[in-house]
Amino acid sequence: MTKEQKILISGVKPTGRPHIGNYFGAMKRFVDLQDDYRAMIFIADYHALTTERDAKKLRQESLDIAIDYLAIGLDPKKTIIFKQSDVQEVTELAWIFNCLTTMPFLSRAHAYKDALAKNKEVNVGVFDYPILMAADILIQDADVVPVGQDQKQHVEIARDTAEKFNLAYGETFKLPEPLIDENVATIPGIDGKKMSKSYGNTISLFASDEEIEKQVMGIVTDSKGVGEPKEMEKDTLFAYHRLFSMEQLPELENRYRDGGIGYKESKEILIKNMKDFITPLREKRKKIAENTEPVIEILKQGGQTAKHSAFLKIAQVKRATGLL
Ligand code: TYM
Repeated sequence: MTKEQKILISGVKPTGRPHIGNYFGAMKRFVDLQDDYRAMIFIADYHALTTERDAKKLRQESLDIAIDYLAIGLDPKKTIIFKQSDVQEVTELAWIFNCLTTMPFLSRAHAYKDALAKNKEVNVGVFDYPILMAADILIQDADVVPVGQDQKQHVEIARDTAEKFNLAYGETFKLPEPLIDENVATIPGIDGKKMSKSYGNTISLFASDEEIEKQVMGIVTDSKGVGEPKEMEKDTLFAYHRLFSMEQLPELENRYRDGGIGYKESKEILIKNMKDFITPLREKRKKIAENTEPVIEILKQGGQTAKHSAFLKIAQVKRATGLL
């Protein structure tokens, strides 16, 4: 099979605005890889339902992600862009997988354990989240799944589920591989922990100039003075320089290593570079958002294409299981 025929799939949940962790860990890579695969990128609205109860908000945020995808450079001529809930077959497949999956197996999933640890009342959707994700991936016969590190376990669960099904009913599913770029696998938030919407430590991918200034000024650093050497590997600011300050990186490295740069100056350089990067993206997004009709049409077309391949696969599954 040539690389062109290989299938790539991934998605983003429409819960709040995407941040630079989502972008560098996953979304940018969707754009970089769209020439090399049959690329399928979706808006994970069924998954968002595990936490979102406001219909108006879910509808708006789903459309917003579609606009974001176009703004960062996903090309609907190259990438099938669709809404997860336009492919209802994934929920049907998830049910079939549920009947093969054990509770102890799913109890080991990080996201579920985290939710339990936070004393949250965990709904069945949160518990079953990895199985719906397995259905998203396997129903399209995906070969690769570009994601950040936090989704690695979910892709592994998809692989395990494919193996379990194949063992029970005969060779039906491919085993997908997570595509994780180690350099951007976990982008830190402004407090140094993993950047995450739920930690409130994000920098929005489409942040305004004021937001960029405020968030960068809020980045937590140690208390080393201007003249002191600084540890690049432990510095969140430097992690962002690696993403936004490519041209100045050798110079910044020298100044960090030898001393001679203060965190205030480092932040000012970062603010300028982030603004230079984000401003054109924000402008492009604004333009696309002025007329959403073509965006809705792209989702409709993408949904039909994704549904077609899912329909063929679910028919195969139904034959294998005896439902058909
Ligand atoms: P979501 O919306 O939480 O995140 C979207 C993508 O962003 C990556 N990411 C990060 N990467 C690096 N550093 C970070 N700090 C960071 N934070 C988030 C995530 O790893 C993800 O790739 N479960 C998925 C949506 C989904 C999906 C799928 C993905 C549903 N079905 C099938 C792939 C295939 C999610 O919640 O992504």
